This record gives sequence, structure tokens and C-alpha cells, in this order.
Amino acid sequence: MDKLVIQGVASLKGEVTISGSKNAALPIMAATLLTSEDCVIRNVPMLRDTKTMVALLKSLGKKVEFSKNKLTVTQPAALKHIADYKLVSTMRGSFCVLGPLLAKLQKAKVSLPGGCVIGIRPVDLHIKGLTALNAMMNFDNGYVIAKTKGLKGAHIYLGGVFGSSVLATANVMMAATLARGTTVIESAACEPEVEDLANMLIDMGAKITGHGSPKITIVGVKKLSGVNYKVIPDRIEAGTYVLAAAATRSNITIKGANYTHLMSLMDKLEEAGIKVINEKGIIHVKARKVIKPVSVATHPYPGFPTDLQAQFLAVMALAGGISVITDRVYPDRFIHIAELNRMGANIRREGTNAIAQGVKKLYGAPVMASDLRASAALVIAGLAAEGTTEVHRIYHLERGYEKLEEKLVALGANVWKEKA
Ligand code: EPU
Repeated sequence: MDKLVIQGVASLKGEVTISGSKNAALPIMAATLLTSEDCVIRNVPMLRDTKTMVALLKSLGKKVEFSKNKLTVTQPAALKHIADYKLVSTMRGSFCVLGPLLAKLQKAKVSLPGGCVIGIRPVDLHIKGLTALNAMMNFDNGYVIAKTKGLKGAHIYLGGVFGSSVLATANVMMAATLARGTTVIESAACEPEVEDLANMLIDMGAKITGHGSPKITIVGVKKLSGVNYKVIPDRIEAGTYVLAAAATRSNITIKGANYTHLMSLMDKLEEAGIKVINEKGIIHVKARKVIKPVSVATHPYPGFPTDLQAQFLAVMALAGGISVITDRVYPDRFIHIAELNRMGANIRREGTNAIAQGVKKLYGAPVMASDLRASAALVIAGLAAEGTTEVHRIYHLERGYEKLEEKLVALGANVWKEKA
């Protein structure tokens, strides 16, 4: 397996262009199952996760061409209803084929995704929402077996212990597009990725209102058509580069991102004394020598994203004081603390809080993380650290950051891949 070697301290400069959103692209790709007509999806990041979704769509009977960030999905033969363990277990996003398959075929057998290092990650809200739409859901041998005599619209409350669920909202919304009657989802996820999926479904002929708010209304239609759709930019990738600039006290320019999707991060950066200017969609980051300590708690959108918690903690590890970082979405998502401490950080965990006592310097070290965003935090720490950092298992980074090494090198970082 490859490792990423980083020679710090990096001084980043220049521009970086943000790729299409992974977490918007995955459910959008699943939504192509709702039509037998041709779909073209543009601005799809070429990542391990999107390639896994391509493999899953192919296994379900779609023909997919994927090159230069453009996906063309056609359906040469009948759809199949079984989503195999091998594909679903490697990536949770695959579970969102359940809603479309059920809506299109009235049956689906989809492997349960299981937990991962960031938490147990149950699917009860997906099951609850689809059951309310008149589906019978059973579990057998690690699979969800769903059947319906016809989906019917319903009034559904989809909030869970940790708030709304992104992929449960996506699954239920997709299924409801072809249900008989009207569905109202209360406590729906408001994430831009859910809004993007709704916009794509509307372009396919779905009748959806309220997307982007906690109450989404879907009036079922008989059929959805093909579509030509462009995926939104990846706000988490953009946030990761902003935080890399903050940690290395660099000035960089970020192109192609949507500033309004990053308001919660920008607010916290201002508190930390880092200047971020939005100039007609181009973001300029002007970091300062002294990073002020800032406490933050993650929440569903528009709150601070859990997917930037680890990277923010890497910056706070270098702040001039104590900060408390709380994860209210995934209370166990702190795998990166031990690795950051191996680089000289002084962070301790107390329950769902990471308490960081900022240090003057981080030092390069061999590190490893078992999750995508934790790995991104280690890359940020490596850029800011003195000496050589080796980030092992870059498999995780390849799941979510398109051309990471290339983009960092273009920003002036001394980074390369090596065989581990
Ligand atoms: N939850 C339940 N029951 C459910 C579903 C979720 O209790 O049926 C809980 C989860 O355990 C968690 C909270 O609800 O505590 C929110 O989870 P959510 O369902 O929103 O997460 P997800 O939809 O499975 C997506 C992203 C994650 C991102 C979360 C939160 C995709 C493919 N994944 O997951 O992205 O962290 O939303 O914003 O969209 C990543 O990109 O690194 C990543 C993990």
C-alpha cells in the first residue's frame, strides 16, 4: 500500500481548484436507477468511492462510462435488485441504492453497510422512512430485504438521536419521487448535498419543494426521465484546503468552491484570526502567525460539519491556547487524536470532546488513520510540522480527495507518494 510523504514546514501559495462533491455525487449516481433513460452527470470527482458506485451501478444492470469527470449512465437491459455485500461494505454511500431500487422494482435486497471507525452508524432512519412509504423491510443474513405492493406517500418524521440523517433523507426522498401521493419529510437533512440531489431529481421530472430546509415535500410522479446534471463543488475538500493554509500560516486562493456552503467554518476562522475574503466566488485565505484558540461543536448543516472536525482540530493543535472541539454528529470520531499527539500535539479526549492545548510546533512522524477525514487532518498536520511525515494507508485519502498530491504540489508543498 502507498504512503504519502510530506516534507514540512510547507509554505503554500497560489491557487487550487475544487472538485465536484463526493457526497453529492454518490446519491446522485444512485438516483440514475430511478429512470431507464440516459443520464449524464458532470463534475463527478474521480475517486475510489465514485468508482465503487460505478461498479455497483454496473452490477445492478446499468452501463456506465466514466472519464474526465463525466459519467454517462445507460440501461441496456433490465435492472437487478441485489446490491452485493462486497460493494456495499466498502462504502456506506452505496446504501442509498435501496430507495431507488425499491421505487423502480418494488423490491430490493441491499447489504447492510455495517459500522466503521467513526462510529456504529445504524440505518434505522432509512428503514423507518421506507416502511412509512408502505414497504415491508426484513433482515436476512446481513441484508435488508425490502418489498412493496406500491409505495404510498406519507408524513414522516426523520429526526434521530444525533439529528437529521443525510443519506436517510436521500433514500426516502428518492423513493418518494415515484410513490403514489404526497410525502412530507420532517426533520429532513438540510445539507447542500441533499439539496443538490433534489435539484437533480427535479430536472428528471420529480415534484419536490422545501429541499434545503428541514421540511421537504415530494408529490409522487409516474415516471422520471433522463437528465444532464452538474454536481456542486465539494465543500469539505474546499474547507480542507482552507484549513491547510491556516495551519501552515499561508496565503492561498481557492477557486470553484461555494462560499455560502462554508459559512460555519468561515465564522470560526474569523474568531481564530484567519482572514478569509470571498471575492465573486473566489476565496482568498490570509492566515496569521498566531492562531487564536476557538472552540467548536459539530452539528448537521448549517452547523459546523463533522467532516471538517478532524482538520479543524489539526489547526487548533497549533493555536495559542486551549480549545474544545465537540462532535455531536459522530461522538466517537476522534481516531486522529492519538496520531496528532505522536506529532507533538497536546490533545486529550474527554467523552465527546477533544481538548487541545495548542503547541508551538508539530514534528514529522510516521502516522496512520483509518478514516478519510482523519487522514486529511494528518496531511494538514504534516504540512505544518517540522521534518518528514509519512501518512500511511493513503487508500483512505483516495476515497475522498481528487488529485490531492498534485494539488498540494501545485500549491508549493513538498509531497510525494511512495510504496510503503
Ligand atoms: N444515524 C442514525 N440512524 C440512521 C442514520 C444515521 O442514528 O439511520 C446517525 C448517525 O450514526 C450519525 C448521525 O445520524 O450519528 C448522522 O449521520 P448521517 O446519516 O447524516 O450520515 P450519513 O448520511 O451516513 C453522510 C456522509 C458522511 C458525513 C455524514 C454527516 C455520505 C456518503 N456520507 O453520511 O461523510 O459525515 O453524512 O454529515 O454522504 C465523509 O465524507 O467522510 C463522511 C463520513
